[in-house]
Amino acid sequence: MKNVLSAIQPTGDLHLGNYFGAVQNWVRLQDSYKCTYGVVDYHSMTMPYDAAQLRENTWKMVFYLLACGIKPENLFIQSLVPEHVELNWILGCVTSYGELTRMTQFKDKSDQLREKDKDAFVSLGLFAYPVLQAADILIYRADYVPVGKDQEQHLELSRNIAQRFNNQFGQEYFVHPEPLFTETPKILSPADPNRKMSKSLGEKHYINLFADEDRVRKQIKSAVTDTGDTPAGEMSAGVKNLFELLRACGNMDAHNSLMADYQAGALRYSALKEAAADTLVALINPLRERLADLQANEKAIQEQVRASSAAIRQRAQQTLGEVREIVGLV
Ligand code: TRP
Repeated sequence: MKNVLSAIQPTGDLHLGNYFGAVQNWVRLQDSYKCTYGVVDYHSMTMPYDAAQLRENTWKMVFYLLACGIKPENLFIQSLVPEHVELNWILGCVTSYGELTRMTQFKDKSDQLREKDKDAFVSLGLFAYPVLQAADILIYRADYVPVGKDQEQHLELSRNIAQRFNNQFGQEYFVHPEPLFTETPKILSPADPNRKMSKSLGEKHYINLFADEDRVRKQIKSAVTDTGDTPAGEMSAGVKNLFELLRACGNMDAHNSLMADYQAGALRYSALKEAAADTLVALINPLRERLADLQANEKAIQEQVRASSAAIRQRAQQTLGEVREIVGLV
């Protein structure tokens, strides 16, 4: 079986955009590949953060992923596998300063920090972030990495690093990881449907996958349907987004009948919103129940994920042992 690896930062929330864009796909891939999924807490240290909050968010993300159907044996917490950091160092020595300066995510994130404060502290960690990501991927000999288009450049860097390592040490040691761009629904912000659903835009801009029914209904009710910039005869971005949500949830009956109304010029936005809210609540409620069950066994589940991280660590240690040998460490 081919190896799949992906990872997510512990941001504290899992929203519909993350779910439909990534996690749902990760769950499905578990049937056809040997999958390994990480909650990458080392990565979250690259932007300003609070220590207690990081630990809490890491566990939260673990529970969210399990509730979505990620199998515990496929899941690890990155900092429980410190070999990632050792490989990060070794790979950093076959990565050039120049190629890291070309990473657009570094430019975006450092600009974002400087926008808030012109003398903002921009760490080496943020600059070297893509090398750690390459270590995440290469350490498990991943053949495929399901990611969004925004990670394409980082994936290409991972391949370049693998290749340079292999050339420099004269053997085809590292696998060349390929990105897996699966067609996933693009979910937009309900408050500004010209932008991607995102936590960093603020509370109004994302719908938490584990939100309670009232909150989901309120957020859909206040979703922007008309942004005022839609050319005549075209569907507005907000209305499109509500249809996309129906499709993403698999409610094609409601989708098609409301679409027929739209084409007949008889669509009531309130009916579309009601259908979208009902459909989302039907998706979310079982997930909330599973999350509550997991949380009721918090300690046991945490032990289970520590154990799976330890088992996954053995694979990382195997790679590191070979790498240390290849690069000439004693
Ligand atoms: N950089 C990725 C993101 O922001 C997260 C990530 C870290 C990752 N390590 C990874 C994704 C390894 C895929 C593989 O989404």
